Amino acid sequence: MIINKLADIRTSEITPEHIYLARRDFMRGTIASGLLGAATLSSSNVFADSSYSAAENANKGPEWLNQKIAQAKADQQKLTESLTPYDSVTGHNNFYEFGYDKTDPAKKSQNFKPHPWQVEITGAVGKPGKYNLEDLLKGIDLEERVYRLRCVEAWSMVIPWVGFSLASLLKRFEPDSKAQYVSFVTLKDAKQFPEQKSVLSTIDWPYREGLRIDEAMHPLTILAVGLYGKTLPNQNGAPLRLVVPWKYGFKSIKSIVKIELSEHQPQTTWNQIAPAEYGFYANVNPTVDHPRWTQARERRLPSGLFSPNIIPTQMFNGYAEQVASLYKDQDLKKYY
Ligand code: MTE
Repeated sequence: MIINKLADIRTSEITPEHIYLARRDFMRGTIASGLLGAATLSSSNVFADSSYSAAENANKGPEWLNQKIAQAKADQQKLTESLTPYDSVTGHNNFYEFGYDKTDPAKKSQNFKPHPWQVEITGAVGKPGKYNLEDLLKGIDLEERVYRLRCVEAWSMVIPWVGFSLASLLKRFEPDSKAQYVSFVTLKDAKQFPEQKSVLSTIDWPYREGLRIDEAMHPLTILAVGLYGKTLPNQNGAPLRLVVPWKYGFKSIKSIVKIELSEHQPQTTWNQIAPAEYGFYANVNPTVDHPRWTQARERRLPSGLFSPNIIPTQMFNGYAEQVASLYKDQDLKKYY
């Protein structure tokens, strides 16, 4: 991973974000006043389709998923930071299967097919199997989670995800006593991911990530299927991606096809490529610098070349109160 210091993100605010914010406030108000037990707005009432570009409309998910997303419960935790505009969240991405420039994923993922989709759950579980995404999500209620995303390259965003706790999914497959780690694998399909057929690629595809079981079961850890009240755009990891908000963004693996529970710590993509730079834990930590740059600060997007929006990085990305106890006996300089 390289730092793209010169990336000049457009600062224009776009319509979908305003509509989204209005909807979010409306849902909050509705819940607060107890008029509805749960927010069950139909998104079509609030999101005027004419507000979206043709590419976004083409990117709409199947009806069953749109309906589930429309019924997602609003996040009750209020983050004080403002949301990163939709066009930065979906226009400045790392998804190396589509290329190495920040704009490649948005440009080159438009023909990617995230539906139909299957996910295999395997390893140390009582009920292994391969499931259609729709079956996997049956009985799971979605919720909005507004999280900070801090990339190891020192840029960050605040994103309103729509998803569900990974723990709620894993428990259904009855992990056994050997389940000490969980690994995740992205789709391998060179026809859809141009970089997977490149002979110059340094990545041994497919992209892989992993967590310790207590990290995977932590209530902050989610699998996301949407953002900004809509299905995940392809460039953000459609149809299903991990989000672990207290860890550097590279842990949040996209377009997952396999989840494996195991006794031993799994191999992970960036740790394999450069173990001295990217640890297995990858907890956001302003006191442990990357060998080539400081991790004490970050560039909160949108951030222009002439008006950089630099803010201090927080321990565990601001989630220390919830997660520091997971690492109480660990030397975080050693287990970075
Ligand atoms: N997942 C896959 N399969 N391939 C990738 O290249 N990049 C990671 C992570 N997940 C990546 C991935 C990195 S480095 C980051 S910072 C986040 O995705 C970026 O997520 P975003 O593009 O939605 O902001």
